Amino acid sequence: MQDMITMALAKGRLAEETFRILEKLGIDCSAPRNPGRQLVVENPDARLRFILVKPSDVPTYVDHGVADLGVVGKDTLLEAGRPLYEVLDLGFGACRLCVAGYPSPARSTVSHATFRVATKYPNVARSYWGSQGQTIEIIELHGSVELGPVIGLSDVILDIVESGATLKANGLQVLEEVCPCSARLVCNRVSLKTHRERMQALIHGIEEVLKEAE
Ligand code: PRP
Repeated sequence: MQDMITMALAKGRLAEETFRILEKLGIDCSAPRNPGRQLVVENPDARLRFILVKPSDVPTYVDHGVADLGVVGKDTLLEAGRPLYEVLDLGFGACRLCVAGYPSPARSTVSHATFRVATKYPNVARSYWGSQGQTIEIIELHGSVELGPVIGLSDVILDIVESGATLKANGLQVLEEVCPCSARLVCNRVSLKTHRERMQALIHGIEEVLKEAE
């Protein structure tokens, strides 16, 4: 179908919150809410197509223009470093990107020549410590990053902190706050021109729903 707008959504909570907003705009999201094994779900009436992907892949789809819009965490956006147009801060999915570790170095079980950082965000880590002129060794992990200092793999972690429960349960604490993060609506720069009216209407509608919720 012509003039479909494609939205890339991170499976899970960010997608759920996005559906809640779209439903307030009168867009039926029952199909993408229950996609089964289907990866592309269309709503022909709203001329919307949803693709449900891994969070870290949302910027890739939008950057390549196969998705016009995407909803993704600011942390993921920073790590991806793609030239996307960040249109709205959606507010949900709020967390902080932090450096965390043991409160005092004496408690650390780590002793390496270089300062080791375990993280799912190697690019952010490189830029954060690079801007301070500090040399680090990055150990890239894909989950349970808190294990780094606990098991002696790294001095600290760079990771998102939401409730702080994971840090607390592992005897770690926030040492430095890098930046606050939340879900962002991003769009492909070319799509904003080719689907100008519909994109602007959708973005404006989402903005209004957010204002009402304030
Ligand atoms: C994230 C993050 C922390 C945790 C923070 O992990 O990497 O581990 O949540 O949340 P909290 O401050 O509320 O405890 P996620 O749950 O995505 O799982 P993962 O460790 O497998 O990446």
